[in-house]
Amino acid sequence: GSGWPGLIEAYRDRLPVTAATPVITLYEGGTPLVPANRLSERLDAEVYLKVEGANPTGSFKDRGMTMAISKAAESGAKAVICASTGNTSASAAAYAVRAGMVCAVLVPQGKIALGKMAQALVHGAKLLQVDGNFDDCLELARKLAVDYPVALVNSVNPDRIEGQKTAAFEICDVLGAAPDIHCIPVGNAGNITAYWKGYTEYARDGVVEKTPAMYGFQAAGAAPIVLGAPVLKPMTIATAIRIGNPASWTQAEQARDESHGLIDSVTDKQILEAYRLLAREEAVFVEPASAASVAGLLKAAAGGLVPSGSRVVCTVTGNGLKDPEWAIAGAPAPVTVPVDAGAAAARLGLA
Ligand code: F0G
Repeated sequence: GSGWPGLIEAYRDRLPVTAATPVITLYEGGTPLVPANRLSERLDAEVYLKVEGANPTGSFKDRGMTMAISKAAESGAKAVICASTGNTSASAAAYAVRAGMVCAVLVPQGKIALGKMAQALVHGAKLLQVDGNFDDCLELARKLAVDYPVALVNSVNPDRIEGQKTAAFEICDVLGAAPDIHCIPVGNAGNITAYWKGYTEYARDGVVEKTPAMYGFQAAGAAPIVLGAPVLKPMTIATAIRIGNPASWTQAEQARDESHGLIDSVTDKQILEAYRLLAREEAVFVEPASAASVAGLLKAAAGGLVPSGSRVVCTVTGNGLKDPEWAIAGAPAPVTVPVDAGAAAARLGLA
């Protein structure tokens, strides 16, 4: 093997597994915590990026999915189902292959990134586009899981949260302490719930001395927690977090309040600015929804909510290759040259 055993083996004593649990793994977790040098300079802080796009299917969902699929296998499930804005379906499809299970996915029609659609299809998932949004898809998936022999692997499944909490463990293990502030995108609100669970468990057991303030960020057109009411027609270019009625709403508010943090919104313009900044200044290519954490950090800093010298971790949740549309849209069209060094040098500004 590569050395890293996958997150279930790495944190076995802190997860609901026994010797009888079949471990379904693609060796997820153990992702890089990359110092964000330019951001740190700009904010007079110590900023890190938890690069979750480095997971096997390119998003943090693999952390939850290795647990959810392992527990489903333990209970004898033959099929799993999820609603998804794309990443959950990509992950579920891959882990279902690993477990020899059928995977059914429900996605909002026309609203998931092409790369994610490709992943679900190439792994052989049974994919239905639903004439509705993510919230409609989740309602449908929950009903099907009640009435038919299929296990639900959305983050309302507590095993998903257990797997995802390991990202907080990894951060503390690398830094030797919890950060002061943790910034994270919020969609269905499972991930902020999971990080808070991880940080509080480490603090409870004395592995770290304190917990960070959790700063969660929703897209402005899909910000029900910020507004205090469900959004019936959520809108944002960050399709991964285009969610109007998060399943873990209450837990997200609890994470915010117990950690003395905040949940705020960032506009699509702020998201795209952070997306380009990450690529051009930190060399980290993320999908737009992932950039909400950094857009939020910049907004919080401008509002005086990031004291100088703070140690900050931003989770960047998914790989930029999943949704290349926004990378191409923001760049000039490539120029074509003949097979000629002089012409190429001139065009490159070398001559
Ligand atoms: N970032 C990305 C890239 C995501 O795919 C998601 C959620 C989030 C952030 C938000 O995390 O829902 O736990 O608050 N994607 C889900 C999906 C909804 O279906 O792939 P959350």
